[in-house]
Amino acid sequence: MEYDFENRITDPEITADEMLESENPLRPKTLDEYIGQEKAKENLSVFIKAARLRQEPLDHVLLYGPPGLGKTTLAGIIANELGVNFRITSGPAIEKPGDLAALLTNLSEGDVLFIDEIHRLSRSVEEILYPSMEDFAIDIMTGKGQMAASYHLPLQKFTLVGATTRAGQLTAPLRDRFGVVLRLEMYSPEELSQIIKRSAGILGITIDEESALIIASRSRGTPRIANRMLKRVRDFAEVINHGKINAQTAEIALSRLEVDELGLDNNDRRMLEAIVKFYGGGPVGVETLAAAIGEEAITIEDVYEPYLMQIGFLNRTPRGRCITKAACDHLKLEYPEN
Ligand code: ADE
Repeated sequence: MEYDFENRITDPEITADEMLESENPLRPKTLDEYIGQEKAKENLSVFIKAARLRQEPLDHVLLYGPPGLGKTTLAGIIANELGVNFRITSGPAIEKPGDLAALLTNLSEGDVLFIDEIHRLSRSVEEILYPSMEDFAIDIMTGKGQMAASYHLPLQKFTLVGATTRAGQLTAPLRDRFGVVLRLEMYSPEELSQIIKRSAGILGITIDEESALIIASRSRGTPRIANRMLKRVRDFAEVINHGKINAQTAEIALSRLEVDELGLDNNDRRMLEAIVKFYGGGPVGVETLAAAIGEEAITIEDVYEPYLMQIGFLNRTPRGRCITKAACDHLKLEYPEN
C-alpha cells in the first residue's frame, strides 16, 4: 500500500480538519483539567494568581517545545484563568506592520494575544512588536517626504503569549521581552494514558486501562497524536468489536495504521534505515539525510527527531546525526560498530 504522507496519524502538526474544529471539546479549559507539564503548570498558576491579586496584566509568556504538546491549549487556559479575551494569530499570518497594529489596537485591557509560530514574524512586524510589549504603545509612520508623519498610538495593557517550536530562532531582543519563558516537555505514557481516558469520557468511548496505555505508549509523547489515535482505534472497535476498545482491538488497529509498539511509523523507520544503510550509522548531516529520504530538513528537525532523540534512538552531534544501538536493536538491523 502506498503510504499516505499527507495524513500520517503520527504527525504532531495540526491537520486542516483539526484546525476547523473550532471548539475542540477535548481541549481542557482550566489548569486543573490540564494533565502533565507539572513544572510549567505550577509556575504559571503562581504567576496568574499574582497578576490577578495585583489586578495587573500577566507578564508576556513564551511557550516553546515540539509541536502537538498543547501550547495553544495552554495559552487559551491562561486567558480563561485570567478571565480575559483570547485572540489567536500566527507569525506567518501577520504580513505587514499594519496587520499587527490592527490586532493590537483592538485589544481590551488585560487581553491575551496569542501568536503561534512567533519565530516566523517578519523583521518589520517584529520591530513594532518591541515597543508594544515594552511600553504598550506603537509608533507608526505614514506617507513619504513632506507628507511623512508619525503617530504615537497608546495601547491597552495586554499579555502576549508567543509559541514556537524553535526558541533558538527568536531574535535576542524579542526573547528578552518575555518575562515568563516555559519549556513544554514530551508527556510520559502514564500522562498520555490519563489524557486518553479523559478524552474517551468526553467522547463517550468505553476504554479499559490496558488499552489506554497501549495507545499512550505509541503516541510519541504527544497528546494531539494520542487523541487522534483514540478516534481511529474507536473506528476499528466499532467495525470489528461492537464499539468496545480492548487490548486486542487497539493492537489490531495500530498495526493496521502501521504504527509500531514505540509509535514509530514508516517514515521514522525509513529514515533510521537510511542512516544505517547509506551512511554507516552516521554521522550524517541533516540536509544530506533529507535529500536521501525526500523530506525537508526542517520536517526532520521539528517532527521526526524530537521523539527519536527522546527515546534514545538518535543523537545529534556537531558532525551530524548518529543512530544508536537501541534503534538498531528495535529495527533488527546490525549496529555499525565504530
Ligand atoms: N488534551 C490535549 N492535551 C491535554 C492535556 N495536556 N491535558 C488534558 N487534556 C488534553
